Amino acid sequence: MPTLKLNKGEGVKLFGPMAFTLLRGTVEILGKKVVVGERVIIHRLKSYAVVALEDSELDLSMVNEAQIKRLEDNEAYFEWVKLSEEIVSSNPTVVVVIGEVDSGKSSFTTLLLNKALERGMRPALVDADVGQADVAPPGYVSLAYPSEQTLWNRGLKPVRMCFVGDNKPQRSTDAIVNYVKRLVEQAVSEGRTPVVVDTDGWMKEVGAVLYKTKLVVEVRPDYLVHVGGSDPSFSALERLGVKYRTVPSPSVKKVRDRSERREYRSDRYREFFANAAMVKYDLNQLVFVDMPLLQGARVDLHDERVVYSSVLGGKYFVVARGDTRRVYEELSASLGREKLTVYPQGFERGLYVSLSDGKGSECPGIVEKIDFDAGKLLARTPCPELPVRVVRASTIRLTEDFKEEYIEY
Ligand SMILES: Nc1ncnc2c1ncn2[C@@H]1O[C@H](COP(=O)(O)OP(=O)(O)OP(=O)(O)O)[C@@H](O)[C@H]1O
Ligand SMILES: [Mg+2]
Repeated sequence: MPTLKLNKGEGVKLFGPMAFTLLRGTVEILGKKVVVGERVIIHRLKSYAVVALEDSELDLSMVNEAQIKRLEDNEAYFEWVKLSEEIVSSNPTVVVVIGEVDSGKSSFTTLLLNKALERGMRPALVDADVGQADVAPPGYVSLAYPSEQTLWNRGLKPVRMCFVGDNKPQRSTDAIVNYVKRLVEQAVSEGRTPVVVDTDGWMKEVGAVLYKTKLVVEVRPDYLVHVGGSDPSFSALERLGVKYRTVPSPSVKKVRDRSERREYRSDRYREFFANAAMVKYDLNQLVFVDMPLLQGARVDLHDERVVYSSVLGGKYFVVARGDTRRVYEELSASLGREKLTVYPQGFERGLYVSLSDGKGSECPGIVEKIDFDAGKLLARTPCPELPVRVVRASTIRLTEDFKEEYIEY
């Protein structure tokens, strides 16, 4: 396997999948110091700028599309380092990082956290990207307290997860803003600063700018860092005392296409549910959120094809066996078409939910079955000990191999 020699101050760009062991010297990646003997793994979906702090030697193992490129003099990373040092040395409480998809938001966030750790600070990360969440599984806004320098926020242990129930921010902007605010407040009250907020890449539309602006107004960061772009509407936030800074996106980097993003989400579900246990809960001890069928009052429709039915806000929600289209046509003749939703028996299998004790502890779950006759909910969860009182539904149903499908209520 090749050995790569770098003189002090020299750098390269490494594209995964690749691994190296540092044989001599010291190199820095996203502000993390790699020391002699340390092995660094660069994932297939990742690329990094590697800079030698001393004369160094790397023992590389490369596979498939792995690549090594020269680091240009105008490499974005050098500007990132300057800005991250300016920010960290000002002792900020909160920093929000925004930018388009694949601009480098999460990497810049990691750099800031690593620089903060190097100074002996106790930083926090709020991962507000519900689509490409690194800390929690998809659909959550989460909080983590990194204690060691890393190259990727994936793998940090969540201190708290708040369920948004969607993997796109568009329909849930207010919930995301509220959760981010709550988690920032928690981190600060637990003595963790700086709190770095990593966000999703939804930036180009009017709604996106309104949402990011609202986030900044609510969270009031000391710095708003825009990676790979600039927008005068964000400069206006300086009126609040927020320092708006822009840095370029690395010009050459790995990007993820849509299917890689989907696969990344599947990987995350798989990771969280790898050691999940099957738990049985009593329906009559639970409060449901965003699931009208189980929130409504039970009614008897006197139809033997109906497994379960309830009424909420003047509308009927029905689970039926057999030909659900026919059940719908027949029942809607008396109940009204707009007033009726019919689900096929077994529709709940694979539904991605969040289980909570109602006091702030949340954990993901996948519904296996609802036994309406026995009044039981059967779900897989990595937190079988959690005393569950609240079940929040999502719009996502997961297949056996953790692929996402969508469900409507
Ligand atoms: N200096 C750099 N040179 C080359 N590649 C880099 C550099 N910094 C980060 N990258 C790579 O660029 C890609 C995008 O970075 P990152 O995941 O941080 O972006 P993001 O804006 O958070 O993306 P997303 O919208 O998916 O959350 C990643 O593969 C990352 O490893
Ligand atoms: Mg990201």
